Amino acid sequence: MKTFVLLCSVISIVSPKIIDLSSSKNVSWSFVNNNRTITGKATVPGGIYSDLHSAGIIGDILSEDNDVRTRWVAYDVWSYTAKFNISSKDLQAKVIHLVFEGLDTSGFITLNKHIPIGSFNNMFVRYVFDIKDKLQEGENELYVSFLSPVVAALIRSNKVFAAPDCVPAVYNGECHANQLRKMQASFGWDWGPAFPSVGIWRPVYIELYNGAIIRSVTTHITKVGSKWDLRLKVYLESSQNRTLLAGVLSASLQVEGKQTLRKWTQVNATTAADGTLVVELSLNVSDNVVRLWWPNGYGEQPLYKLKLQFTSDSDMDNPSYKTINVGFRTVELVESDASEILGNGTAGRGLTFYFKVNDHPLFMKGSNWIPSNILPELGESQKNVVDNLLKAARDVNMAMLRVWGGGVYESDYFYDKCDELGILIWQDFLFACSMYPTDNYFISSVREEIEQNVLRLQHHPSIAVWAGNNENEVALRGNWYDTYPLFDKYKTEYIKLYVDTIKPIVEDLDPGRRYLVSSPSNGRESERENYIATNPYDPHYGDTHYYNYFADNWDMDTYPKTRFASEYGFQSMPSLKTMRTATNKDEDFHVRSKYSEHRQHSPNGYSYIEAQITRRMKLKEDDPKYFEKFVFYSQISQAMAIKTETELYRQDQANWYTMGALYWQLNDVWQAPSWSGIEYGGKWKMLHYFAKSFFAPVLVSPRLCSGDDIEVYLINDRFVPITDAWITVDIYNWKSVGPISTRQFPAQANPLSSKLQENADVHLRDYNKEEVFVRFTLQAQGVKSPPNYIFPVALKSVVGLQTPNIQILVSNLVTRRNHDRLEYAVNIRVDTVVPFLWLDTDIEGRFEENGLIVTEPQSVVKFLCNKHVSPRVLQKSITHQYYVN
Ligand SMILES: *[C@@H]1O[C@H](CO)[C@@H](O)[C@H](O)[C@H]1NC(C)=O
Ligand SMILES: *[C@@H]1O[C@H](CO)[C@@H](O)[C@H](O)[C@H]1NC(C)=O
Ligand SMILES: *[C@@H]1O[C@H](CO)[C@@H](O)[C@H](O)[C@H]1NC(C)=O
Ligand SMILES: *[C@@H]1O[C@H](CO)[C@@H](O)[C@H](O)[C@H]1NC(C)=O
Ligand SMILES: *[C@@H]1O[C@H](CO)[C@@H](O)[C@H](O)[C@H]1NC(C)=O
Ligand SMILES: *[C@@H]1O[C@H](CO)[C@@H](O)[C@H](O)[C@H]1NC(C)=O
Ligand SMILES: *[C@@H]1O[C@H](CO)[C@@H](O)[C@H](O)[C@H]1NC(C)=O
Repeated sequence: MKTFVLLCSVISIVSPKIIDLSSSKNVSWSFVNNNRTITGKATVPGGIYSDLHSAGIIGDILSEDNDVRTRWVAYDVWSYTAKFNISSKDLQAKVIHLVFEGLDTSGFITLNKHIPIGSFNNMFVRYVFDIKDKLQEGENELYVSFLSPVVAALIRSNKVFAAPDCVPAVYNGECHANQLRKMQASFGWDWGPAFPSVGIWRPVYIELYNGAIIRSVTTHITKVGSKWDLRLKVYLESSQNRTLLAGVLSASLQVEGKQTLRKWTQVNATTAADGTLVVELSLNVSDNVVRLWWPNGYGEQPLYKLKLQFTSDSDMDNPSYKTINVGFRTVELVESDASEILGNGTAGRGLTFYFKVNDHPLFMKGSNWIPSNILPELGESQKNVVDNLLKAARDVNMAMLRVWGGGVYESDYFYDKCDELGILIWQDFLFACSMYPTDNYFISSVREEIEQNVLRLQHHPSIAVWAGNNENEVALRGNWYDTYPLFDKYKTEYIKLYVDTIKPIVEDLDPGRRYLVSSPSNGRESERENYIATNPYDPHYGDTHYYNYFADNWDMDTYPKTRFASEYGFQSMPSLKTMRTATNKDEDFHVRSKYSEHRQHSPNGYSYIEAQITRRMKLKEDDPKYFEKFVFYSQISQAMAIKTETELYRQDQANWYTMGALYWQLNDVWQAPSWSGIEYGGKWKMLHYFAKSFFAPVLVSPRLCSGDDIEVYLINDRFVPITDAWITVDIYNWKSVGPISTRQFPAQANPLSSKLQENADVHLRDYNKEEVFVRFTLQAQGVKSPPNYIFPVALKSVVGLQTPNIQILVSNLVTRRNHDRLEYAVNIRVDTVVPFLWLDTDIEGRFEENGLIVTEPQSVVKFLCNKHVSPRVLQKSITHQYYVN
């Protein structure tokens, strides 16, 4: 017993010792405004809007028009103060660093009333201050003061203006976000409100140690024969004064079969001027002790723990540790002569643009990620929201998300989750829809930002590619901000920022990943054309963004070809249920209400939605349920538009080598019309349900051509071919249930491809097109594929569609699947065809499918949830909507 106690007492203390300065019993923070009339208890990490809300000074910021009513907050100067105690023992540490992982955005810091610590100007930078000589025994007071970001942006703009003047007036936003290294969307966007936040949005703490600590590690993994060459670069940090570092760095990697691979190296070198030292270490990992990491839908995501330890000769009792997960995979962005795949015709001009993962070209299915909350501190702290969104992406067969350049470099938690779920990340650097200044002050801050964030994120297997900015090449080429008279100046600055500053840092720290200068761009071709291509939207190169609100978006012919669609979308309304979390005033629930106008940031947005709806569906202004239908139909319209466009891109894998479809946008930051598939609060729109089908690994995808012919593609995202398969074509008429004609033809597709089924002779010449629609299903051994449909004419013109009788019964049988998920069988009985049957309930959970095309008298859809509910209660709670003329 005694020996045991003794053993425990000599176990070393991990270095660094952390004195956490987050709000806690021991550290209490307060905030105060400039004229000291508003003060309260603060939460750190946090932000001023959250604190004012908690203090009861402002209401729910997302309610009604509180975004503009609370705007005064962004014009004031806010200061945060904390008191904490330090012991004399702590003061003996050789290195005492004050670390802020995130300060939003500009201001200064003092300690003990007057001792200056430093200033800050970049929300994405970790600030480390040496406070050894400034800290005192006993009580200390830390003071952090934030400038108004709106004023700070204006002051800089007056000195180093860069277009545009401001965001469009309908955003109710603020101007010159491009002057600050701050989440660009916090000054307003077309899908979100402006909340120009300030605050200590990420953790703050004091680090004490005597030797050195491991700050970050990068992993450089290549496959050499049957071995993985795992080269590590370990970034040690010490006192910010140059010092000699001696000690031992060791690495251990836990692989399959409970084995551990170990490696160590002796360190004895002088740190760089900033107190850092990079130490390299390599491990050979045989490919029979680790399994491949795959994106979602293509395989599993095995991750292996890599534990690093640095023991300083000068502080042997207190080693520093760092643990990360390693995934073994290769990702390559292939831009090669397209004629090699597509021949010498039009399609074969230019370059391919596709991701090759573990040597297989994979079509990237997914969406675009915007911040999970408009307040960055909540985007960090509300992990369940991040979880739910990423799992929702996983559940609908997405394999890639683009972290868009107007948001933030997300939390470590976010990328860890992506590693686990197999969601590849296209990571933009945080510059969006603007020209940017390039004065020294700005450039040096950007340099630090890029370095730190690449070092922090580089090791994640989920990260597939870096891109310098969002849409800034097309904005300059397309004269979005009237920059033609200064084209050369802006082009020079563009190159200075993305090419001369950012590119070399990324390529030095992360030579294994492609750095694209812009998104969208023509990739290598943009580079060849000196970075501002003549036509950055050239369909023969790179990625494209495409939006068209004027054409018929249920028609595949609307969409131009592309190698890779990294943005495309249409707006829809959030559900009434979600809207009610922002307002409960009846008069707000109208398309042209002041409330609705306030929430719509896309100029003419409602007219476009209305035009989309009425091109295909019947909706009369004098309908007593106009608004309710407008909301519902907008979701049908959006879901069908994105389905159509996405399937076209997947079909085009066959003839254009289109290799990616990331629609705009996955999520929302408030209850407003937007391009999202998931509403603020987490409710799935019809689009997100449809994504599960249109992104299905195996899909029969038809295309209605002129002359009433229907082309049929079989899309196969699996590694094995589909043979011995049949496609069934059922013709239905609108006024009954069950098919009026059924035909089958043999089908096949190669692995990882889309194939036009040449022998499928499907046409509608024998039918009155107003009366019928077509359903396509696949029968193949061991292959699941959702049904697909062709609606030959606009729904508003169909003949025979009846008002249905619908019965919904929840059976008593409840099944429990993995992760404790409960499944209820919801039985649907109908007496006629029901298009777009939408089921809803207030019980937390979701249906397995929704927006159903009901063609049979009886069908079943599952309801999935985590908590038990009585089947009767569930049945009573289910409401439904559907389309009828
Ligand atoms: C708070 O202070 C007490 C002693 O004053 C100490 O025992 C405790 O560990 C501290 N808690 C934290 C979270 O630092
Ligand atoms: C103090 O600041 C608040 C908030 O910005 C403002 O509403 C108020 O008018 C100011 N009071 C004085 C006396 O300046
Ligand atoms: C610091 O310690 C002193 C003496 O124990 C105590 O009075 C004071 O409340 C402590 N301050 C904080 C912020 O914990
Ligand atoms: C680091 O160097 C500076 C200037 O040489 C000196 O003022 C400071 O005290 C040193 N800090 C430490 C922790 O040694
Ligand atoms: C470390 O290097 C220095 C000179 O660079 C040398 O004097 C010293 O003996 C070395 N220490 C160890 C432990 O090798
Ligand atoms: C890894 O293996 C290769 C040959 O298989 C060898 O050349 C290299 O030195 C090894 N590297 C390490 C770090 O053991
Ligand atoms: C395309 O044309 C070039 C030059 O005419 C020829 O060398 C090449 O073989 C052709 N490629 C294919 C795939 O036909």
